[in-house]
Amino acid sequence: AIDISKLRDESGHVTLDIGYKNTGATKSAITFLDGEQGILRYRGYSIEELAEKSTFIEVAYLLIYGELPTAQQLEDFQYELSHHTLVHEDMKKFFDGFPQRSHPMGQLSSSVCALSAFYPESLKTNQTPEEINLSIIKTLAKMPTLVSWIYKRSLGHPYIYPKNKFDYVTNYLHMTFGQRTEDVDIDPVIVSAMNKLLILHADHEQNCSTSTVRIVGSSDSNLYASVSAGIAALWGPLHGGANQAVIEMLEKIQQDGGDTDKWIAKAKDKNDPFRLMGFGHRVYKNFDPRAKIIKKACDDILEKLGINDEVLEIAKQLEEVALKDPYFVQRKLYPNVDFYSGIIYRALGFPTDMFTVLFALGRLPGWIAQWKEMKENKEPIGRPRQIYTGETPRSYVDLDKR
Ligand code: ACO
Repeated sequence: AIDISKLRDESGHVTLDIGYKNTGATKSAITFLDGEQGILRYRGYSIEELAEKSTFIEVAYLLIYGELPTAQQLEDFQYELSHHTLVHEDMKKFFDGFPQRSHPMGQLSSSVCALSAFYPESLKTNQTPEEINLSIIKTLAKMPTLVSWIYKRSLGHPYIYPKNKFDYVTNYLHMTFGQRTEDVDIDPVIVSAMNKLLILHADHEQNCSTSTVRIVGSSDSNLYASVSAGIAALWGPLHGGANQAVIEMLEKIQQDGGDTDKWIAKAKDKNDPFRLMGFGHRVYKNFDPRAKIIKKACDDILEKLGINDEVLEIAKQLEEVALKDPYFVQRKLYPNVDFYSGIIYRALGFPTDMFTVLFALGRLPGWIAQWKEMKENKEPIGRPRQIYTGETPRSYVDLDKR
């Protein structure tokens, strides 16, 4: 492929590709995605195999350092992480200052950025690889603490401190569902479901939030600030925010009597802004492989937990109708990862507005791996061009003459 960044056109010509539909912004060795075939691999390993056999923290290591860890490397990694799970006590004041009902994604983005104030060594330019690694460990280790505290704050419950005897995912669940007054047993079914969900979200090459992390990092911004920007990008309903939007849509359809044909018709009506949330993808023009795994996991988890959720039935009906409808078939619109994930989060007891935060927790290793790769490749500052469509030169008009 021609590296167009090396081609400087003295005449000022630029390539216009609004939404970067066909523009590659980097070379990356992290995630392989074939949207036509529905293939997704992290560092060469298929998503299906990783979701079945691996744990989230192993996958995080794989994405960030390039290889699956040996038993010793995994132990060392967990040990290092467990020594950075606490966040500065003053961060509590930060959460106390938010209105109790404010959206968790706003709280997460600002609190992750605020970590740079508490751990200012991250602001140093020209960090050594060891210093970069420490920022990586701190970000990974502290994120579950922040995420669970945001949840506890929304309930008005006391914050729960990490217990470092637990593995990464169990520790997160302990801080989320645990109580100060007594130890709460974390159901292994829930630990396994969370591992699977987080693995499926861990990376997805140059999506909107990951590109944001890379572009912010390309100005030599610190890791906390770059991840915070990624969280902001993920928040939107066209990206990670779709998992919240899907459940809200399914609940609305349920309250409306469950007439899926009516809602499919609304999604097809070009005069109606409504879109079938959780359907369609910029890159997948075949089934999203993550959606297949999540759909199966959803059935399994609901059965294991003994939950009968009517919303799951509506989701399945919608999918069945849409997959036969020429509108969706012609446009190659299939369910994406967000279509079924919210149903699992709901079954696990998470409130709807926490869903996108859980996506962020899963995507964190991918953001970190991509930020690290961008730094190691010494990529130049990201700076797209534009085609100017504004006014031609004109003279200033004094205020009394306008
Ligand atoms: N419902 C109805 N029609 C749709 C949908 C949908 N969910 N998605 C796309 N379309 C239609 C568009 O109206 C357009 O139709 P047209 O050709 O007649 O104008 C055509 O399909 C192509 O859609 P675009 O918006 O051009 O596709 P793009 O690649 O820009 O957008 C996106 C992809 C944002 C994911 C889109 O499919 C969408 O809005 N989906 C719903 C939100 C969603 O689920 N987002 C999560 C994505 S996955 C993730 O981020 C983790």
